[in-house]
Amino acid sequence: MSDKVKVTIDGITIEVEPGISILNAARQIGGDVVPPAMCYYSKLEGSGGKCRTCLVKVSKGSEKDPRPMPKLVASCRTGVMDGMEVQNITSTEVTEARKGIVEMLLINHPLDCPICDQAGECSLQDLSYEHGLSKTRYEFERRTFDKIDIGDKIQLHMTRCILCYRCVYVADQITNNRVHGILGRGDASEISTYIEKAVDNNFSGNVIDVCPVGALTDRTFRFKNRVWFTKPVDAHRDCPACKGKVTLWYKGEEVLRVTGRKDQFGEVEDFICNTCRFETKKTSNWVIEGPRNIVNTSVIASNHYETLKPLPVIETSQVLIDANKVEFDRATKI
Ligand code: SF4
Ligand code: FES
Repeated sequence: MSDKVKVTIDGITIEVEPGISILNAARQIGGDVVPPAMCYYSKLEGSGGKCRTCLVKVSKGSEKDPRPMPKLVASCRTGVMDGMEVQNITSTEVTEARKGIVEMLLINHPLDCPICDQAGECSLQDLSYEHGLSKTRYEFERRTFDKIDIGDKIQLHMTRCILCYRCVYVADQITNNRVHGILGRGDASEISTYIEKAVDNNFSGNVIDVCPVGALTDRTFRFKNRVWFTKPVDAHRDCPACKGKVTLWYKGEEVLRVTGRKDQFGEVEDFICNTCRFETKKTSNWVIEGPRNIVNTSVIASNHYETLKPLPVIETSQVLIDANKVEFDRATKI
C-alpha cells in the first residue's frame, strides 16, 4: 500500500508525503494553483502563519472526515490529509479574502514603487496588481518611521515592512547570534533596531533577499537602476564561507548588485555570504555560467524594448550565445 496521501487542489489530484502543508503540495503541482506566500519561506524553520496571503478553502477535510473546514485556513500552516479537497483560485471566497488581505497589508505600506529598489521583484506589488483595490478605505493616520541604516550595506525602511518575520528568522537561523526581533504588538509592532547589531555577521545580507517587500534594501544598489533594466547572469566562485552560487545583475559591463539565486517561488536556492554579495563585484571574480532564467511573466523579463546589445561576456562565449538564442532571434526580427 502506498504511504502517500491523495490531495486535490483546484480539481488537480496529486499524491504527496503525509504531513506536508497544503502550500507545499500545491507547489508540487505548480502554476496558478500555488497560493501566494509573503511570510512562509521553506528554508526558514518556523516561518509562515503571519501574513494570511496563502489562505485557501478546505471543502473536504479528508476521506475519513469529509466535513469542510469552517473557515479559510493558512495553507502554509495546514497539513494535508488523505482525500482532502482544497480550493484556491476556484473559490470566490478565497479570492475575495485575498483582496481583503492585500488591502490590509497596504494600509501602512506606502505606494512608493516608482522610487523603491524592490519594484519589479516585490511580492506585494505583484499581489496588489492581481488583487488590490484602486483606492484605500483607510481614513486614519498611517504609521511612519525614519529610515535606518543598518551598517553601510543595508537600509531598513520600516514604513514598508509587512511584519512577515523572515528577516528575524534569518538572523536567528543563518547568522550566529540572534540580536534583533519584532518589538511591540499589533499596530505598535516594529523591527527592533537591535538589527543594527546583526551587520557584523557575514550572512546578514540575506535579510535583503528574504524580505518580500522593499523594507530591507541593498545600500550598494540603492537608486542605481530599475531591476528590469539590468541583466541577470548566474555565476559562481570558490567561496570558503558559502556555496558561492549567485546571480550577478549587470548594467553594461558593470555588476550593479549580487544576490542569491531565486527559484520560481521567489526563495533563494542557497544563502550567500556578505563577501560574495558586497565585496566581489567584478566579472573577473566570477565564473560566468549563463543568463539567469527569469519567468516570462516577470517584469524583469520585459527588458527587450530595443535591439539587443549583448554584454561582452556573452559575445565571447558560445555557451552564452546559445543560451541567448531567443533574444538574438528577437533582435534580428526587430
Ligand atoms: S523587514 Fe522585510 S523581511 Fe523583515 S519582517 Fe519586515 S517585511 Fe519581513
Ligand atoms: S504565507 Fe502563509 S500566512 Fe504567510
